[in-house]
Amino acid sequence: DHVLHLHDPDTRNGTSMASVASLSASLQQRVSAALAAAVPSATGADPLLRRSDRADFQANGVLGLAKRQKTNPQALAAEVVAALPASGGGGDDTIAAVEVSGPGFLNITVADAAITRNLAARAADDRLGVPVKEHPGVTVVDYAQPNVAKEMHVGHLRSSVIGDAIVKILEFGGEQVVRRHHIGDWGTQFGMLVQYLIEHPHELDHSAGEGDTGEASMSRLDRTYKASGALFRSDEAFKERARRRVVDLQAGDPETVALWQRFVDESKIYFDSVYQKLDIEIRDEDIVGESGYNDMLVETCDLLEKSGVAVWSNGALCVFFDDIKGKDGEPVPLIVRKTDGGFGYAATDLSAIRNRTGDLHADTLLYVVDVRQSLHFRMVFETARRAGWLTDEVTARHLPFGTLLGKDGKPFKTRAGESVKLEDLLDEAVQRATAVVREKGEKIGLTEEEITANGVQVGIGAVKYADLSTSLGRDYVFDLDRMVSLNGDTSVYVQYAYARTRSIFRKAAEGQQAAAHPELALEPAERALGLHLDAFGDTLAEVAGVYEPHRLASYLFQLASLFTTFYEQCPVLTADGGQAQVENRLFLCDLTARTLRQGLGLLGIRTPERL
Ligand code: ARG
Repeated sequence: DHVLHLHDPDTRNGTSMASVASLSASLQQRVSAALAAAVPSATGADPLLRRSDRADFQANGVLGLAKRQKTNPQALAAEVVAALPASGGGGDDTIAAVEVSGPGFLNITVADAAITRNLAARAADDRLGVPVKEHPGVTVVDYAQPNVAKEMHVGHLRSSVIGDAIVKILEFGGEQVVRRHHIGDWGTQFGMLVQYLIEHPHELDHSAGEGDTGEASMSRLDRTYKASGALFRSDEAFKERARRRVVDLQAGDPETVALWQRFVDESKIYFDSVYQKLDIEIRDEDIVGESGYNDMLVETCDLLEKSGVAVWSNGALCVFFDDIKGKDGEPVPLIVRKTDGGFGYAATDLSAIRNRTGDLHADTLLYVVDVRQSLHFRMVFETARRAGWLTDEVTARHLPFGTLLGKDGKPFKTRAGESVKLEDLLDEAVQRATAVVREKGEKIGLTEEEITANGVQVGIGAVKYADLSTSLGRDYVFDLDRMVSLNGDTSVYVQYAYARTRSIFRKAAEGQQAAAHPELALEPAERALGLHLDAFGDTLAEVAGVYEPHRLASYLFQLASLFTTFYEQCPVLTADGGQAQVENRLFLCDLTARTLRQGLGLLGIRTPERL
């Protein structure tokens, strides 16, 4: 069959860059100017423009303005309409019709030609007309932070998936992003682990042929963790040796550090295997765990103490907050140095802030961490503000996410009540997805390898999409049946829409190619699809501004739905409007494909070509 490599994203090399203003942005400007023309004091007033079912757009800004001016809203609306450059007047051909409805709403219909022209401009650009920030800032994203020598849990999954999407979306917008995987690789438990390894030197040895599989690493670590923990609890002398070992570790004793490093390396094998399954890239240079700030801890505490931000209380160095109290009404402090002299999680986070603002010159700090750490971050940010490490120019935000629930509505656990192994969960998702894609795959003649590959992309996509399509703070139920369903708000539904566009191109005959034809009138389904395609850049800008990937997921789901309606109502290759209409519909298919692919890509979700 004849394949059209019209805009094969893999072969395009990202050279053209021409940002395209959306029709919505252009209209916003026009209506705003018309408001100012009707009421000069209204310059800059928000026209409150939005997509609408009645026309293409509705502007509701006249109502508020009339109220403020104490004039009749319908009369004012008529004046604004007269000032709007509509079709035939003033050489502007964006607006086809404007009418006043109800108490003074403006219903605006855009010209078909304007839609097609705008989309053609997007199609000519590798970035689909999406602008890059003119003045990018530096954003540090703290995400994907599992703990050394410990099993990853579903919280780490969420942090990784959400963080990865946020990083990709910000980077696509031109922001300079520094990724930080703040792994838990420090603390008193490492005294216990290292001491155990000294006394049981062969514990982490790899037996020949065992290979470096993540699972094998995790089971070695788990065995060591349990054995050393048992000894720590039962043997006072060992406990004491372990305590002294922590001091050696923090002081940088080479032998101790080398053994600690073995735990870190072994864990990285395991983390890598999970991230590979998850299809998330974690670069080694971006892993700066808690240990990376060890050298700063003493100074951080000194500075806090000298400035009076922190005070000694019951032997611990604490920061107090007027508005943070426990159930008993007693103040709950942030403890930066414990009674035993040890530094805690908070001292590390404060040091990390100093590093991120002072050395990395970040102007935005994001933390993708579960909601249970909200109080911690509130106290840490407030402390850093008092200490002057966070200035007014720097935004620090905890992006808290909710809990993954089982079907019983309780935190997600296995039947036996144990926490779920991430790898098992991902494997199961892939298995279910493979069953779903096999049925159709066999019909369209996919090979076993293709079915297997699709199963992975659909299964992992399903897990990520379920996570990303829920607004961050909310808990959601992990329900694989729903997640791989073909009829619902799922990634596979969106992936199918993409594959369908590709299949149309495979079926296209010689000479049938995609080309925009602004002279053609559009069917309602084409208009709806076109206007939505035109909103891609606006959606991304919004998502990047509020750090809410679910808005992108919902944009893409809507795009897939609009495409499905278009596909059902507007035959593409057999369009009865002649060659030009075939070309224009192929053009819409192609732009849809590229937008879906780009959008899902930003969410970390793959787009199989044949599904
Ligand atoms: N390792 C921590 C955990 O598993 C998350 C770290 C979050 N990031 C931070 N800067 N505190 O709970």
